[in-house]
Amino acid sequence: MCLLAVCGVGWSEGRYEPEWKSLDSRPLPPWYDEAKVGIFLHWGVFSVPSFGSEWFWEHWQGSKSQKYVDFMKNNYPPNFSYQDFGPQFTAEFYDPKEWAELFNASGARYVVLTTKHHEGFTLWPSKHSWGWNSLDVGPKRDLLGESVNNYQPDVIWSDGDWEAFDKYWNATHFLAWLFNDSPVNETVVVNDRWGRGIPCHHGSFYTCADNYNPGILQPHKWENCLPVDRHSWGFRREAKLADLHTIHDLLTQLAMTVSCGGNILINVGPTRDGRIVPVMEERLRQMGSWLAINGEAIYGSKPWAHQNDTLTPGHLTVSQLPGRARIQPPSAIL
Ligand SMILES: *[C@@H]1O[C@H](CO)[C@@H](O)[C@H](O)[C@H]1NC(C)=O
Ligand SMILES: *[C@@H]1O[C@H](CO)[C@@H](O)[C@H](O)[C@H]1NC(C)=O
Ligand SMILES: *[C@@H]1O[C@H](CO)[C@@H](O)[C@H](O)[C@H]1NC(C)=O
Ligand SMILES: *[C@@H]1O[C@H](CO)[C@@H](O)[C@H](O)[C@H]1NC(C)=O
Repeated sequence: MCLLAVCGVGWSEGRYEPEWKSLDSRPLPPWYDEAKVGIFLHWGVFSVPSFGSEWFWEHWQGSKSQKYVDFMKNNYPPNFSYQDFGPQFTAEFYDPKEWAELFNASGARYVVLTTKHHEGFTLWPSKHSWGWNSLDVGPKRDLLGESVNNYQPDVIWSDGDWEAFDKYWNATHFLAWLFNDSPVNETVVVNDRWGRGIPCHHGSFYTCADNYNPGILQPHKWENCLPVDRHSWGFRREAKLADLHTIHDLLTQLAMTVSCGGNILINVGPTRDGRIVPVMEERLRQMGSWLAINGEAIYGSKPWAHQNDTLTPGHLTVSQLPGRARIQPPSAIL
């Protein structure tokens, strides 16, 4: 906790103010940097068609991408709506204890679930999403927990920032409440997708872009989120083995990310009936086997300050980086 005198501008009477300068002065809760490895889950009504991408609705009816239009024409009755997928999101094999056992075995230390993806469907009985949530439609269950009032998330991972500026989302007011007055004010961390122009500039950790891996040590905590299926975050029935990252790819990314001060968030997409398919399970357990041996060099580690000095003259700030390019990891890293 910082003292009034050292925190300076933006810190008033021990409370964060709804402005970035003040919010950015909040120290990162230490658990997050120590954890290093998380699991990302994309699960929702898009897991029903499980075709193409989790942005199925947008590709089908928004941009009217031919592949999606044809898929619907060939496989569904005329006038079938996206909402008609809802009742088929049944989750009958969903066993949260089994998932928890798998995530623990993968060596991950936190899990981020799409409790509400861009389609708007909530995996809990949200009062603000009536008729389009997992209690009203589909599983008829609260997939997050027993009591709506008892969720105590450690991570709030926002997205869709590009649609409007932070003022529109009222993001700084929400974050000031979260950091000052919420039940998780001491422990919660947030990403950086809080409005147009905000990613890579504000937040507990920066995600910048999907698959972000700058390849050099960063001055601010960051996270590399990447899907095991290169082409989709949600489960995709037509995926081929060659579309999936190998365990070597994933471990290369993991080592590179952690060595440059990042956390890695490995994504898998569960099925509409609540399974994590064996090939995804295998990737996660392979990662766990590696971490069981090498975890000592990962968890709680601090990157060497000069590790990049054969490649770069010193610390670069994010604004000096050559864009958000995805760089090829050196094959010799492992
Ligand atoms: C599909 O919707 C259109 C326009 O709403 C309607 O004219 C048509 O009868 C519908 N077709 C079927 C098979 O329900
Ligand atoms: C979690 O994983 C660790 C390390 O593999 C293992 O020792 C422990 O038994 C696991 N815990 C549970 C509850 O499965
Ligand atoms: C933004 O959030 C604050 C705090 O919850 C609230 O007082 C204010 O009315 C909100 N502003 C808008 C435009 O919704
Ligand atoms: C978090 O909230 C508690 C209880 O409201 C308060 O005592 C504490 O000072 C808050 N911590 C921070 C960092 O604001």
